[in-house]
Amino acid sequence: MAGLIPQAFIDELLERSDIVEIIQRRVSLKKAGREFAACCPFHGEKTPSFYVSPQKQFYHCFGCGAHGTAISFLMEYENLSFPEAVEQLAEQAGLEVPREAGGDDKREAHAPLYDALNAAAEYYVQQLRQTPKAVEYLKNRGIDGTTARDYQIGWAPPSGLIEALKPRFTPQQLVDAGLAARRDDGGIRERFRTRIMFPIRDRRGRITGFGGRLVEDGEPKYLNSPESEVFHKGQVIYGLFEARKANTRLDDIVVVEGYMDVVGLARAGFRRAVACMGTALTRAHLDSLFRQVSRITLCFDGDAAGRRAAWRSLAEALPAIQGLREVRVLFLPEGDDPDSLVLRDGLDGWEERLAGALPLSETLVRLLREEHPTDTAEGRTRFAHTAMKLVATTRDPLFRDQLVERIGQETGLSHERLEQVLSEQPPAPARGADPDAGGELSTPSAGAPAPAGGGESPPALWGALLARVLQHPDLDWSQPEFRQLVELPGVAAATLRELLAALDENPDRHTAGLLERFRDQRHFQRLMALAHQTLDDGEVTVTRQTALDCARQLLRQHYRSRIRELTRPGAELGTEQRAELARLTEQLQRFDVPR
Ligand code: UTP
Ligand code: MN
Repeated sequence: MAGLIPQAFIDELLERSDIVEIIQRRVSLKKAGREFAACCPFHGEKTPSFYVSPQKQFYHCFGCGAHGTAISFLMEYENLSFPEAVEQLAEQAGLEVPREAGGDDKREAHAPLYDALNAAAEYYVQQLRQTPKAVEYLKNRGIDGTTARDYQIGWAPPSGLIEALKPRFTPQQLVDAGLAARRDDGGIRERFRTRIMFPIRDRRGRITGFGGRLVEDGEPKYLNSPESEVFHKGQVIYGLFEARKANTRLDDIVVVEGYMDVVGLARAGFRRAVACMGTALTRAHLDSLFRQVSRITLCFDGDAAGRRAAWRSLAEALPAIQGLREVRVLFLPEGDDPDSLVLRDGLDGWEERLAGALPLSETLVRLLREEHPTDTAEGRTRFAHTAMKLVATTRDPLFRDQLVERIGQETGLSHERLEQVLSEQPPAPARGADPDAGGELSTPSAGAPAPAGGGESPPALWGALLARVLQHPDLDWSQPEFRQLVELPGVAAATLRELLAALDENPDRHTAGLLERFRDQRHFQRLMALAHQTLDDGEVTVTRQTALDCARQLLRQHYRSRIRELTRPGAELGTEQRAELARLTEQLQRFDVPR
C-alpha cells in the first residue's frame, strides 16, 4: 500500500511536520535537555522514560522499547494503517496526499469486484430468509438473528446467484470476484451451492471473499473463496472489522480457528474473536493485529495438530514481540473448540478459561519441556540449544533478557553461559521467522564502537556504521571509503547506498526522513533500532572516525575474501579475473592501514 504514496511526498510531509508538535497534542511533553520527555503513552509508568528528539524527529521509550517516526507514532497511538497515518499527518500539515497513477487505476479496476461481492452477500442474506432449513441449522447451533445480521450470514441456494447478478455484472467479473468458475464449455457455474455463507470483510469493511459451510455431511465442509485481486488468504482476518465495530476501545483480541467459533463467541457476548481461516498464523496476520491491539491470545486444540500449530505460531510471534506487545496462548481441552465451550460453559466460563492463557514465554518453556525433558544433562542441553535458537529471533532486548533468565531457571545454566551460546552460534532463525535474521543486519550489537582493526563480524560492523549514518545524517559522508562500500553486494550495502543517495539529494534530511524510505522492507525494524541505539562516541569526530574504521574493516574483509577466492589452489584465472585480482590487491593496500 505504501507504494501508492510517492516517496517524495513522504519526504515533504516529514519535512513540514514536527514530531514534537504531533506528540505534544496527545501526550504532555516536558523539555529535557535537547529532547522532550513524558510518561510513555504505550505502557503504564510513573517516571518519564519516553523521549522525543526534535533533531532526529524520532521517539523512543527506554521502558518498553517503543520507538519510531511521526508516522509510526500515529499508527501505534491511533491504531492507524500506514496510509491512514499519512492522511492524518497530511491533513494537519495542510497537504493533499497525491497517489501515484498505478494506485487509482488499480482501485478503479477493483471497484466492480467489490460491488459484485457486496451484491452477492445481499443476495445470500435474502436467500437465508426464504430457506427454513438454513435458518433452522443456525438456530440449532445457537446463532440468533442479531448475530446473523451483524456478520451478514447468508445462504447460497443450489443455483440462482448468476441469474440474480446477470443484469449488473459480466460473467468475467463474477469469475474474477471468485463467485463463479469457468466451465469447460466457456460458460460459468456458481462456486458456492447449498452452503451457509460467511462474508469476509477487510479492515475497511469491504467484502473481499466468502467462506461457505455445508449443512449436511459432505466434502469439503467449508469452501472458501479462491485467491483473487482483492482476496488474499494469508493476510485477511475474519471478524476483525466486526470486532472493531463492536468495541469502541479494542485492547485485546483472541485468535480462534473457525468462522463458527468467531460467530458463536459473538452470540454469547464475546465480540473480540477473529480467525485466520484455516491457514497458519503468519507474520502478516500478527503485524496487522498488533496494529489494532497490544494483546493477542491464540487458541489451539489440545491435540497433536494443535501443538504443531502452536510451535509454528510461536516462531512467528517471538520476533513480533516488542515493548507493550503481548501474546498469550490458550490450549483447549481435546475435542472442544471455542464455539462448543461457550455453548456449554457460557460467557463466564469462557472468560475464566481465557484468563488462564499462558504467556508466550511460558508456552515456550512448556512446549520445550515436552520435547526435551530436563531431567537429564542431555535433555537440558537440547532444551537450551533449541531455546536459544528461538531467543535469537527476538527483537526486544528486554524480552530477550527475560527469556534467557527463564531458560536459565529451567536448565540450571547461567545467564552468561546462555548468552555465550547466543553469540557463538550464528543466529539461526526458527522456521518462519524473520528471513533477515542471520543476515548482515541481524546482530543487535552495534551500540559499542567497533574497535579499529579488531576482528568484528560484518553484521556488527554494518550495524555500527549504519547506526552512525542514521543518527548523524548531518556529518560529511562523502569519503571514498563509504562510496566504495556501497558497491559491495548485500542488503546492508544496498541500504547504505540508498541512505547516501538520499543525503546527496538533500543533505538536510533527518533520521526519520531517512528511515521512512525503508518502511516496506523487511529490515525496517532493525534500522529503527539502529536509529536510537545509544552510541558511546562522546563527540562527533569520534563518531566519524568510528564509522570510517568500520567501513575500512568491511572493505578489507571483502577484498581479502574475494582475493582468497580468486587465488584458491587450482583456480584458473581469465584475463578479466586477473584484472580484478590486480584491482583488489591495489584497493586492499589502500585500506589495509597498519593496526
Ligand atoms: P473446523 O473443521 O475445526 O471447523 O475448521 P469449525 O470451525 O469447528 O466449524 P464447525 O463447528 O464444524 O462448523 C476450522 C476452520 O478451518 C477452515 C475453516 O476456516 C474453518 O472455520 N476449514 C475447515 C476449511 O477451510 N475447509 C474445511 O473443509 C474445513
Ligand atoms: Mn466447531
